[in-house]
Amino acid sequence: MSSLLSLRKSASRKALSYIKPGMIIGLGSGSTIAESFLPVMLEEAGSDVVEKNFFVPSSRQIEFRALELGLRLLSLNQVEKVDVTIDSADLVEKESLTAIKGGGGAFLMEKVLSSISDNLILIIDENKLVEKIQPGSLIPVEVPPDFIIPVKRRLEKELGVSVRIRTGSGKVGPVITDLGNAIIDVPLPEGYSLGQLDSFLHRVPGVLETGIFRDLVSKVYVGTGNGVLELERRGVML
Ligand code: A5P
Repeated sequence: MSSLLSLRKSASRKALSYIKPGMIIGLGSGSTIAESFLPVMLEEAGSDVVEKNFFVPSSRQIEFRALELGLRLLSLNQVEKVDVTIDSADLVEKESLTAIKGGGGAFLMEKVLSSISDNLILIIDENKLVEKIQPGSLIPVEVPPDFIIPVKRRLEKELGVSVRIRTGSGKVGPVITDLGNAIIDVPLPEGYSLGQLDSFLHRVPGVLETGIFRDLVSKVYVGTGNGVLELERRGVML
């Protein structure tokens, strides 16, 4: 049986075809990018990417990792657009390519990055691919700590679900993101589509962003035991 790492590495190899000399590349966050994509990229493209590309990281995790690897970085504030962003996700719906992101708490930056990227390519293993994202799946929501309690109260009252403020390991209390905010994990309520929940959340004052990525993903490479599956969003020009 193939290990998770080898599935993710096979999918990473496919995503490399999007990196051309001179391009500005966005980097998502999480273990897939840190432990599969970046090592594979360095193995296969080596000095070429170090000398010919700039990278825009979406978190301190990836910023530090990229610096250790000798990559040249630009911040989001320094670029007008990004040619392609390579990222992962927690769940991806097979038909729509809607993704849930934010398991690593970097989804706000990842969403801004994807919004200025010509293309967003995801690398996942087969365990993250689902036919439909089910009620109860946790949707991360980023909220500044100064008003986390009223926002939490409103979400519970209006959505009829119990939500939780994410806590971390290695630190007591709430997870505080790289941008200084807290995260509420909201279970997708029965009877709500992801689009309806996303629109509702964006209308709640105090919510900065959600981990629902709709109409943003261009392509997904899925590492499976039988090779890499390629899924493309309909109507997207790559
Ligand atoms: C970071 O906030 C997330 O969006 C990650 O991209 C996502 O959770 C995937 O993480 P792993 O690669 O660690 O599974």
